[in-house]
Amino acid sequence: MSRYWSSIVHKIVPYVPGEQPKLTNLIKLNTNENPYGPSPKVLEALRAEAADTLRLYPDPNSDRVKAAVADYYGLKTPQVLVGNGSDEVLAFAFQALLKHEKPLLFPDITYSFYPVYCRVYEIVYETVPVTEDLDIRLEDYQRSNGGVIFPNPNAPTGRSVSLLAIRELLENNMDSVVVIDEAYVDFGAETAVPLIDHFPNLLVIQTLSKARSLAGLRVGFAMGHPELIEALERVKNSFNSYPLDRFAIAGAAAAIADRAYFEETRQKIIRTREALMIKMRGLGFTVLPSAANFIYVRHPDRDALDLARRLRERSIIVRHFPLPRIEQYLRITVGTDEQCAALVSALAEILGQ
Ligand SMILES: Cc1ncc(COP(=O)(O)O)c(C=O)c1O
Repeated sequence: MSRYWSSIVHKIVPYVPGEQPKLTNLIKLNTNENPYGPSPKVLEALRAEAADTLRLYPDPNSDRVKAAVADYYGLKTPQVLVGNGSDEVLAFAFQALLKHEKPLLFPDITYSFYPVYCRVYEIVYETVPVTEDLDIRLEDYQRSNGGVIFPNPNAPTGRSVSLLAIRELLENNMDSVVVIDEAYVDFGAETAVPLIDHFPNLLVIQTLSKARSLAGLRVGFAMGHPELIEALERVKNSFNSYPLDRFAIAGAAAAIADRAYFEETRQKIIRTREALMIKMRGLGFTVLPSAANFIYVRHPDRDALDLARRLRERSIIVRHFPLPRIEQYLRITVGTDEQCAALVSALAEILGQ
């Protein structure tokens, strides 16, 4: 606390990201990174970018990335905004589209950055409880609101909602913006991008951090009606003209263009996830259905935090959220087959099996 702080700083509660340990010999299954490296074509593009041109500012509009996204999804470039990770794109959306008199709605169990943005931008919000088995019921969002946001699949549960349910929500919610945070969509959920041309109030946000294995490069993007995108651009251009540096632009464009590598690695992760879920059930865990690159599990008679501590002693880190309703769950990122086998044998030992 300091008397020099602006008043808002006293009120905000910053987001705490998952641990990025300095030790390198850990099996890191705590922040939903991709266990496979990015496409070799991305690395090639980054190397080519290490040149004298770094003395020049990058393209403020990241047009190459916008064009790559538009091409991938069959959109036009004015329907795309690019930012420094989807966290930044989300921040723009909260400011530009979700601050109204009526409350913003989001699930009570969801990405814990949402209430942080609400406090920093002074947005009124209400949380909508997920069901007993942590499912989002979109019918519950059909009430007066200043906006709706949810991830699909949801984090940290991994559960997804259908495109049909999203369409129904949009049809009944034309007076405010619906933002779908599709950070994990490529691992098994249906993207809402095909609905963009039908609903001027739909904004879809994605990232290159997960299925395209570029968490370290920091690139995210939003897709929606050009008027929604213009609102985001106005906020972006009032904050930072160059959210993507030259490396990020080159790497992101190459990653989106390399469809074969993307397909191969995401399918590998999906296969490993399905095998891991079976093994975890075999160990007695309750495992929620997952359409993401992580699983959400609880053990009927073991304390989740204690399990996380014991895994850590064995150099495996997973994520535990000490929050109401979910304090007995662990979120475990799907690693390589070898990493998942090490996890399963560590758990078997801890459980005495
Ligand atoms: C649901 C969800 N949305 C957005 C993000 C942010 O991703 P990034 O800022 O790396 O694009 C995350 C990160 O884990 C997430 O879980």
